[in-house]
Amino acid sequence: MATRNLVDCGCTTGGMGLEERKAVRIWLNDEGRKIMRKTMFALITSATVALSAQAMAVDEPANIIKYRQAVMKAIGGHTGAIVGVAKGEVSFIGHVAAHARAIHDMSKLIPDLFPKGSDRAAFAETRALPDIWADWAKFEAAARKLQEESARMIQVAEGGGDAAAIGAQLQNMGKACGGCHKPFRAEKK
Ligand code: HEC
Repeated sequence: MATRNLVDCGCTTGGMGLEERKAVRIWLNDEGRKIMRKTMFALITSATVALSAQAMAVDEPANIIKYRQAVMKAIGGHTGAIVGVAKGEVSFIGHVAAHARAIHDMSKLIPDLFPKGSDRAAFAETRALPDIWADWAKFEAAARKLQEESARMIQVAEGGGDAAAIGAQLQNMGKACGGCHKPFRAEKK
């Protein structure tokens, strides 16, 4: 469509004749209405989703526990993948930085995942000990430690570290996991 091109090119309508300008206006009106309808539809849809999400009680402790266990499993999955490379079971050394970045990003979410009252005393399905909230500063420091060690893993991988170098940093990163699990996570029942 010629008029569409005129509009899309971003040039002013100054050089156009009366007929052309009218065509552009009609096109804009037409198109404008379509866009408006789409926007309204999107707004209503997202409002409906928000309402039904509210009905499902967003951020209920039980839902957060499920969510944080999923995040922890993801951290565990990426760590397990790096273990495979460090042991030389797979040659995907070029993947390590991506796994380390995922762990690093997830480690920043950890404090969000532990709202007060989501402990094992209140919910049977979690292994989170009440000590987390009794010593929140220590818990946050443990999460920060993982941030640091995973950042170091990114550096080692991006610096072209071999499987041995990755294995060495994996030991450090593993200590950061244990540094939190030991004081703050109950044994499996
Ligand atoms: C700052 C504390 C903290 C750090 C750091 C941490 N974790 Fe955890 N992790 C926890 C807690 C607390 C739980 C128990 C969560 C629950 O049951 O609700 C947990 C649970 C898990 C689980 C079990 C998830 C499930 O299915 O219930 C895995 C796997 C896991 N962590 C892996 C890791 C790995 C691997 C690292 C290090 C790379 C790590 N975590 C670092 C606190 C931490």
